[in-house]
Amino acid sequence: MKGVILAGGKGTRLHPATSLLNKHLLPVGKYPMIHYGIRKLAEAGIKEIILVIGKHSAGRFIDYLGTGSEWGVSLTYRIQEEAGGIAQALSLADGFIRPGENFVVLLGDNLFEDSLKDQLSEYERQGGGARVMLKEVDNPRRYGVPVLLNGQILFIEEKPKTPKSRYSVTGIYMYDYGVFDVIKRIRPSDRGELEITDVNNIYAVEGTLHYGVLNGWWTDAGTHRSIHEAAARLLDIDQ
Ligand code: G1P
Repeated sequence: MKGVILAGGKGTRLHPATSLLNKHLLPVGKYPMIHYGIRKLAEAGIKEIILVIGKHSAGRFIDYLGTGSEWGVSLTYRIQEEAGGIAQALSLADGFIRPGENFVVLLGDNLFEDSLKDQLSEYERQGGGARVMLKEVDNPRRYGVPVLLNGQILFIEEKPKTPKSRYSVTGIYMYDYGVFDVIKRIRPSDRGELEITDVNNIYAVEGTLHYGVLNGWWTDAGTHRSIHEAAARLLDIDQ
């Protein structure tokens, strides 16, 4: 399988630090945030990775990561000119991902403990469609929240006022090449973005959206507080 890491966006919740540097290059513990996603993919045996990054700080990503050889992977970079949502960023991986190929997508600010190895095998076994990773959280309203029935995701509600489960849909997704056609079918949301939740809901309606649950800790390191929490956890790990 190949890997896609989405590492663009404006990082507005991390201003003013992100006026200097893209969020994914900010330090979390010993390393810039982007290190952890690459490491997770490398550990799971993924060797070919595309990074979708914004224009801001693009050179800095290359300064730090280069070809990816330090991580034992081969990196390709693609620039997202304007922030247009997660699904729009993902569409830029078309071409790097070829027909017939399966892949895993990480949002670069999602930091987590679990290994991806078993979940990638589960995805291969499920035979196409989409797979998302869920995590039980105290504050699901901040996230995409699945509506579950009999072990199936009926649909996902994006940042609902009244969450219908205690889970968040994390930024760990698995797809086959068909996702690029699915992205072409969705329209921008009220906030003007192509939403990954709309993509996943097409699979949910078709009955081909499956899920796994993370057991270890998980953080969406998009705020000052969550970055500090993640740093504290990661500093203890000798990597
Ligand atoms: C995005 C997704 C949301 C998901 C979250 C995980 O939200 O839209 O469904 O739960 O990532 O980090 P964002 O952080 O872009 O608001």
